[in-house]
Amino acid sequence: MWLVTGGAGYIGAHVVRHLQRSGRQVAVIDDLSTGVRAKVDAAVPFVHASVGDRDAVRQAIRDLGVTGVLHLAAKKAVGESVERPLWYWQENVGCLQVLLEEMADAGVQRFVYTSSAAVYGQPDSTALITEDSACRPINPYGATKLAGEWMTSATAERFGWSAMSLRYFNVAGAGADDLCDPGVFNLIPIVFRALDSNERPKIFGSDYPTPDGTCVRDYVHVDDLADAHVQACAYVEANPGAGNTILNIGTGRGSSVREVLEIVSAVTGRDASGEAVARRAGDPAQLVAAVNRATEVLGWHSSRDVTDMVDSAWRAWQLKAE
Ligand SMILES: NC(=O)c1ccc[n+]([C@@H]2O[C@H](COP(=O)([O-])OP(=O)(O)OC[C@H]3O[C@@H](n4cnc5c(N)ncnc54)[C@H](O)[C@@H]3O)[C@@H](O)[C@H]2O)c1
Repeated sequence: MWLVTGGAGYIGAHVVRHLQRSGRQVAVIDDLSTGVRAKVDAAVPFVHASVGDRDAVRQAIRDLGVTGVLHLAAKKAVGESVERPLWYWQENVGCLQVLLEEMADAGVQRFVYTSSAAVYGQPDSTALITEDSACRPINPYGATKLAGEWMTSATAERFGWSAMSLRYFNVAGAGADDLCDPGVFNLIPIVFRALDSNERPKIFGSDYPTPDGTCVRDYVHVDDLADAHVQACAYVEANPGAGNTILNIGTGRGSSVREVLEIVSAVTGRDASGEAVARRAGDPAQLVAAVNRATEVLGWHSSRDVTDMVDSAWRAWQLKAE
């Protein structure tokens, strides 16, 4: 039985469905602080509790016969993490400590941890980012994600676990029309919201050293990401005691803000051309993943492009708005 923390969230709900399709037994623990219960199949055992609730975590692991955990539950808004840093440390690191302790007590030895490209901070160069690139997070959110990787590595080493830390790049799209990304933190939902309000999307900075002057990011389809989780589970199942393996999960291809806006215009039939304003503090010019390690270790690679992401996200967004 795989326990998915944060399984009622945008990404977690996709992961739960992909794990079910892979034939694995799945359960969810989620405090519904941003998640939605209805995104999870009623047949999936669901524990409505925080991962920081030790008794609930202990009981879930024992009663559900948990043999592995995928930990996606976290707070993820960069600006909020600057406003409330200690709360981010509590939710993203304190809760993880409880989870790891309870797993260790129960003898659960398989763990997949959700990390983020935010651990890299603001790289000096525009080269592809490998897992060995320097990790210098520039906000509390990224720092908590990196600390979680360290806790995972130390615990896996101490107790002989097989673990995997997946550094997601920019996740977008929807794998089903009811699985929209409701949080307006990423470029595509931000643009959709601007279109709904008849506003021009803002382009933060048009003088970066990139081909069209706007920031370049690596967008990965949430269905490809969910597939990577299934592969990660298969890997830790097949490789006991392997320690913590860290992998970038992206496409290896960058898209500029202007390119994404052009695709949004083409898909929605609305003018999403946007208006250039000043740069935002802390935005690197380019963040694109080197993904060969994920392919070597998991046999995984992305198969969907930005048009697939915008198209599926737009369909789900319109249903959400109704
Ligand atoms: N969306 C992205 O582009 C992106 C990129 C990199 C990493 N991530 C990471 O992916 C994970 C999932 O993100 P998402 O986009 O699906 O966000 P989300 O907010 O939709 O999902 C988070 C889920 O975790 C639950 N949760 C939060 N704190 C909890 C706690 N203490 N106990 C139990 N449940 C809790 C929420 O209710 C929600 O269901 C996070 O760890 C995030 O840091 C996301």
